[in-house]
Amino acid sequence: MNDELLLVGARVIDPLNAFDGLRDIGIRDGVIVDPATLHAVERLNLKGKVVAPGFIDLHVHLRYPGQTHKEDIRSGTAAAAAGGFTTVLAMPNTVPAVDNPALLADVLRKAATEGAVHVLQAGALTVGRQGEEVTDIAGLKAAGAPVVTDDGSTPQQAAVMRQAMIAAAAAGIAVIDHCEDTNLARPGVMHDGAVARELGLPGQPRSAEEVIVARDIVLAAETGCRLHLQHLSSAGSVAMLRLAQQQGLPVTGEVCPHHLFLTDEACRTFGVNAKMAPPLREEADRQALIEGLRDGTLCAIASDHAPHSAEEKAAGWNKAPFGIVGLEAAVPLCLTELYHRGVLTLSQLIALFTVGPRKVLGLPIGSLALGATADVTILDPDAEHSISVESFASRSRNCPYEGWKCRGKVVGTLVGNTRFLSADYAD
Ligand code: DOR
Ligand code: ZN
Repeated sequence: MNDELLLVGARVIDPLNAFDGLRDIGIRDGVIVDPATLHAVERLNLKGKVVAPGFIDLHVHLRYPGQTHKEDIRSGTAAAAAGGFTTVLAMPNTVPAVDNPALLADVLRKAATEGAVHVLQAGALTVGRQGEEVTDIAGLKAAGAPVVTDDGSTPQQAAVMRQAMIAAAAAGIAVIDHCEDTNLARPGVMHDGAVARELGLPGQPRSAEEVIVARDIVLAAETGCRLHLQHLSSAGSVAMLRLAQQQGLPVTGEVCPHHLFLTDEACRTFGVNAKMAPPLREEADRQALIEGLRDGTLCAIASDHAPHSAEEKAAGWNKAPFGIVGLEAAVPLCLTELYHRGVLTLSQLIALFTVGPRKVLGLPIGSLALGATADVTILDPDAEHSISVESFASRSRNCPYEGWKCRGKVVGTLVGNTRFLSADYAD
């Protein structure tokens, strides 16, 4: 492939560098360079398109090792590239859990050869994610983990979490946290409200999330550990996070598209494709999450891409696993519901996929500065289309958005030297 490329005619939005305007972007050997230094140049005509730094998804389940019937590194990263993401953070709730430096290094080696996009791997907080014994957090960091989490759960004993935060703070690494008190959540399969009562399903109260949010903010304040709250779903959680930030505590938070665009009402329509952890809540929660994006309390949108097989999801409300696939729907949904509805500017939305995740990870990515790796996301902000679950590159189809009408699509991604352009891209 030609190792020089010029992106011409696009509106470039690079929130980290406060740039929004027409500009050409030069790329040589997978690195962003001054266009004036290019020679025999191949051009990509992007008139009418938006060029942004490659999007980063902080919450993805690639299912390797152990559950590759749901997804694997190839299929999951192909879904990421198609969905506009050039970097994903893989969760460690695999089988076995990624709870030791050797396994973490093995996953990263495999991802370097098989991954379509950059794969970061989070390390587990506790051995086997059992919530008892803290892992070798410094060793996990040395093996390449940018953060640690027991995602899928969190240590139920505050003393274990406290010890993990002390170790993470010493290692200079953030704890990212799936906030769920198991005793309060079980045996709930959806939000504990009027809809659950009507459907006759056991509910999970907001307190199942909120008591852990409160506990871990207190522990972060005491230990000085950087804490990132994953997939927040309740108004109370956003309020506590806002207060913590006002107090200057090192706490950040993310939200998923499904918590922004669906409520527990969706459980009536979409069945188990509306079953996820934490559960879809009520309209007031949804509004509070949107407000959290608007005022900057929440710094990232993450998909929580959680593939499961059709057979597993067919087990019914009480037995089916929690989660939906999200990598290929997240960006079109956010363009439609947040940008086109006037909730956020395009630059604010792009920052939630670039600047925010960069801050959480503490890595120098998500920028189009000269010298940066040429990770680029290309959008057509006005293209109208419908979500087609059948067309997903993901191995799984557990998704409630089939046929959703969207305005705004992903045209492609550039990952260093590799190009992923949608089939209908026409120069
Ligand atoms: O819905 C979810 N699915 N939430 C989680 O925390 C875990 C995830 C999974 O691994 O399937
Ligand atoms: Zn989770």
